Amino acid sequence: MEVTETFAGMSLPGYLHTQESLRFASSFQFRDTDVVIATYPKSGTTWMQEILTLIRSKGDLEPAKTIPNWARAPWLEHTYFKDMLQETGEPRLITTHLPCQVLAPALRKSKVKVIYMARNPKDIAVSFYHFHKMAKFLPDPGSFEDFLIRFLDGTVQYGSWFDHVKGWLSLQAELGLFFITYEDMHKELGRSVEQLAGWLGCPLQPEAIRAIQQHCSFSSMRENEMVNYTLIPCEIMDHHQGRFMRKGTVGDWRDHFTPRQNMLFHKIYQEEMRDSSLCFRWLMD
Ligand code: A3P
Repeated sequence: MEVTETFAGMSLPGYLHTQESLRFASSFQFRDTDVVIATYPKSGTTWMQEILTLIRSKGDLEPAKTIPNWARAPWLEHTYFKDMLQETGEPRLITTHLPCQVLAPALRKSKVKVIYMARNPKDIAVSFYHFHKMAKFLPDPGSFEDFLIRFLDGTVQYGSWFDHVKGWLSLQAELGLFFITYEDMHKELGRSVEQLAGWLGCPLQPEAIRAIQQHCSFSSMRENEMVNYTLIPCEIMDHHQGRFMRKGTVGDWRDHFTPRQNMLFHKIYQEEMRDSSLCFRWLMD
């Protein structure tokens, strides 16, 4: 299962991707009514899928209770969802981890709405490390130290976090991209839901926002088999190794990073992000 595909200079899990599925994604015909969730892995993608499903349904929990997240917001580049993407009626919710340079030409041809969700890369590194232990389609991460070095080098699967976030942000003005962070959502979920709903042109009543907040809390999503990936068999995600809904906190890096690793991270972060306007004030949180 642990086979690797190489595409656009990065490694990707071969269990989920083929050259054909990646070419399909890069030449995809977006519709003006599509909404795309773009994230680097472990940024809170599943959380965003759930929130957008419920904004679309105006707080009606039924679709979220009966259909797994991957069938409501399929991954554009995964080999399993090609037919689903083509057959789904409007409006479609589409998820991608691909870097912007792969999708930009296709996105520019439509008025598709794009949401980019970012997260403190230190917490992503920790979350991704633990995910490697349970996801059988990803390589053994080795020690956290080894994994962190590869994460900073951009040689982990899905490539460099720095390139991913800088690339998508460079398209913010051109695509009218909505940028949001895991940390902002964590701090004020109700406000984030309201902002997203406004931007999508689906304003919500206060009771709908409250219902979404409740349904999308970490404790609720952790027990919800439509989003917690426990429906996926252990040969693919070994649930004995850990939970997909692991901690759901801000600043878990503090329990994993040594002071030296933290200093190294900051040094590389400063170098990589020196020309970026992004100000990750939570880097130290
Ligand atoms: P942790 O491993 O830090 O707990 P993705 O969906 O992009 O793979 O991201 C998964 C991360 O988002 C995991 O982080 C998961 O616990 C967290 N997450 C998922 N739903 C969440 C929620 N409702 N609230 C907070 N964090 C959530």
